[in-house]
Amino acid sequence: PPLPPIATDVVRWQASHGRNHLPWQQTRDPYRVWLSEIMLQQTQVSTVLGYYERFLQRFPDVASLAAAPQDDVMALWSGLGYYTRARNLHACAQAVVQLHGGAFPRSAAVLATLPGIGRSTAAAIASFCFGERVAILDANVKRVLTRVLAYGEDLSSSRNEKALWTLAEDLLPTQELASSMPRYTQGLMDLGATVCLPRNPSCLVCPLQPHCRAAQQGAPQAYPVKTRK
Ligand code: ADE
Ligand code: SF4
Repeated sequence: PPLPPIATDVVRWQASHGRNHLPWQQTRDPYRVWLSEIMLQQTQVSTVLGYYERFLQRFPDVASLAAAPQDDVMALWSGLGYYTRARNLHACAQAVVQLHGGAFPRSAAVLATLPGIGRSTAAAIASFCFGERVAILDANVKRVLTRVLAYGEDLSSSRNEKALWTLAEDLLPTQELASSMPRYTQGLMDLGATVCLPRNPSCLVCPLQPHCRAAQQGAPQAYPVKTRK
């Protein structure tokens, strides 16, 4: 079957019902956006807020972070957990300075070569800061898209995960809507975080409900399929 045209609905919904006042949404500085995306990978928004402000007070730009002693970075991260993130953060800042002249790369493909920046985080930064037309696929977005598509293949298989990435690319806004890439990316994140919840998705208020094959089946919770390894 043809893919459902979700992009316009995601963008429209994000403008009226999405989150638009978070500190890292008030800037296109890739340093600030990158920092927020790394912190948000495994930590909830309410916890990140305070850490984000303290971190930026001490390290206002990528050069100051790159030049800092590792212990200072770890001290500011203390309490956030998943400390590999902090070590990669420091290494990434040093790579930006040493390999990219102190400026973050402007494409997702090059961002993804940096320490701690995976494919989805790279795409989030590139779409938010540079408007690149590129797909994200973090855990929340996997849930939204597997449900909309009733994608029933096991995502613990890398082949199936790759196929879902391709579908995520096929669902991106068309060129006419290309200027809405930041809002589209944020909208998918917001739907996953506030509407298409793991246990109790709010399908009745979801802008994607008319397109959603899992909702039509009456079985949103059946997706995503993921066997324990
Ligand atoms: N989680 C990951 N990225 C986010 C963002 N930009 N806003 C809110 N939550 C997020
Ligand atoms: Fe998720 Fe329900 Fe929306 Fe489908 S209709 S995307 S299952 S919240």
